[in-house]
Amino acid sequence: MRRLLVAGASLAFIVLAALVLFSSGLVGAGNIGAAIRDLLGASAGGRGIGFQSGADPAHSWTAAERGIIASLSLDRLPPLPPDPSNAVGDSSDAVALGHALFFDGGLSPDGTVSCSTCHQPQSYFTDGKALANVRDIDTPRHTPTIVGIAYSDWFYWDGRRDSQWAQALAPQEAAIEHGGTRTAHVRYVLENYRSQYEAVFGPGPDFSDASRFPSDAAPVEDGAKLAAWEGMSEADRGAVNRVFANIGKSIAAYSRKILPGRSRFDDYAEAALVNDRERMSELFSAEEAEGLRLFFGDGQCTDCHNGPLFTNGTFHNIGLPLPQGSRFDQGRSLGTFQVVEDVFNCQGEFSDAKEEECVELRFIKLEGEELIGAFKVPGLRNVAETAPYMHNGIFPDLEAVMRHYNHAPPAFPGHSDLVPLAFTEEQSEAVIAFLLTLSAPPDAPAELLRPPVNQ
Ligand code: HEC
Ligand code: HEC
Repeated sequence: MRRLLVAGASLAFIVLAALVLFSSGLVGAGNIGAAIRDLLGASAGGRGIGFQSGADPAHSWTAAERGIIASLSLDRLPPLPPDPSNAVGDSSDAVALGHALFFDGGLSPDGTVSCSTCHQPQSYFTDGKALANVRDIDTPRHTPTIVGIAYSDWFYWDGRRDSQWAQALAPQEAAIEHGGTRTAHVRYVLENYRSQYEAVFGPGPDFSDASRFPSDAAPVEDGAKLAAWEGMSEADRGAVNRVFANIGKSIAAYSRKILPGRSRFDDYAEAALVNDRERMSELFSAEEAEGLRLFFGDGQCTDCHNGPLFTNGTFHNIGLPLPQGSRFDQGRSLGTFQVVEDVFNCQGEFSDAKEEECVELRFIKLEGEELIGAFKVPGLRNVAETAPYMHNGIFPDLEAVMRHYNHAPPAFPGHSDLVPLAFTEEQSEAVIAFLLTLSAPPDAPAELLRPPVNQ
């Protein structure tokens, strides 16, 4: 009796699913019988046995599964929405200026460090190191890519910035990154790029009076730089901040252009959507298809890595081991306070957004145990090419990542959002094989992937 009920229920589901496919236009009227047969086949023994003579069972998906696969496809990525906090975010003049600044070592005191030192275009805008390192000093975190990052609500592993342009200001003054100051950088940009700057932002101020605008002033920990900054008038500090924010806005306009490229997986998803098994089996091996099945099935990876960029954009503690000699990293539980205090945030005076447009900041969750040791879920596009992995660069390869998901040790402090998968070696390898199908170079005009010609 029970079994009959179950069979009846699943038949009802299958007919329903076929109707969904039909009404969504995925199958035409003449094909509805075929769609039902197809779904029935897919449910019989799970792999289409009986109805699909000769077709590779690895590529047999139910309607619901095909919906999930499609949801991960680049074809579902919406056009990049404008950033209301950056009025020049889509200006081509701002892109050109930001492009130059992204590669310009002049935004560092010794001329050696630019954004591209760590975000290297030939390495998918990462640096291949466990922890970012310039001038032989490690930073506490691993360099994430900036490809497609414009879709993010929060920036940095802990989300301590709420826009791309506010983010682009921070490394310029971090002692272990560019190591510069905002007075030096605004002066440098107005001296070297004045006409380009003015074409985007209008007349630039005159910062030549050294008694009002010290050469190295910034609100940073360094005593001399801080004292110089505090010695300036409020109006002069505001003028410097305005130009500094504009530097960030032009760099953001440039970075917005760097989007993920179409991968083999996206072609597979396209074939899966119309249930073209022949094409699917040309595109994916049985192992890769099995890996995809595990990715959204038993592996539950799509709980966090979902949508066309393979991230839900939120923060999770996944109980990572600490690198030797390092201290516990609070992650999101500190990042929330930092973004609220940032003078360059969406609600600040240098933002172009209206108060009500700062939705993320207005509804930010400031505290909670789930924020302790939580980090932003990274996207997984091209992930095979961007080792090492995680915010602390703890894993050298995808095998080590899978070992972690298989064991999922408890986190301390905080608690891990993972459950141990205990996959077999074959299953783990299949997931990795699937991740490899996400490889694709960035989608951006070729000239934006190298320094501007005159540099
Ligand atoms: C010393 C190497 C280094 C330099 C130089 C550097 N970055 Fe980064 N970048 C990092 C690291 C490391 C992180 C992650 C830091 C963290 O989360 O605390 C990061 C994070 C980012 C993020 C956030 C990505 C995300 O997933 O949220 C963006 C965007 C970014 N950098 C852009 C830039 C820009 C623009 C510049 C130049 C103004 C720059 N970076 C300079 C190493 C660097
Ligand atoms: C509970 C949410 C969650 C689940 C489930 C999850 N991940 Fe993650 N994943 C994360 C977070 C958060 C990070 C970054 C953690 C950090 O650096 O502290 C991450 C990082 C990664 C990275 C490293 C990416 C990089 O650029 O450093 C890979 C690869 C990865 N996950 C793959 C997977 C796979 C495969 C699965 C399924 C077996 C999975 N994840 C399941 C949240 C999750």
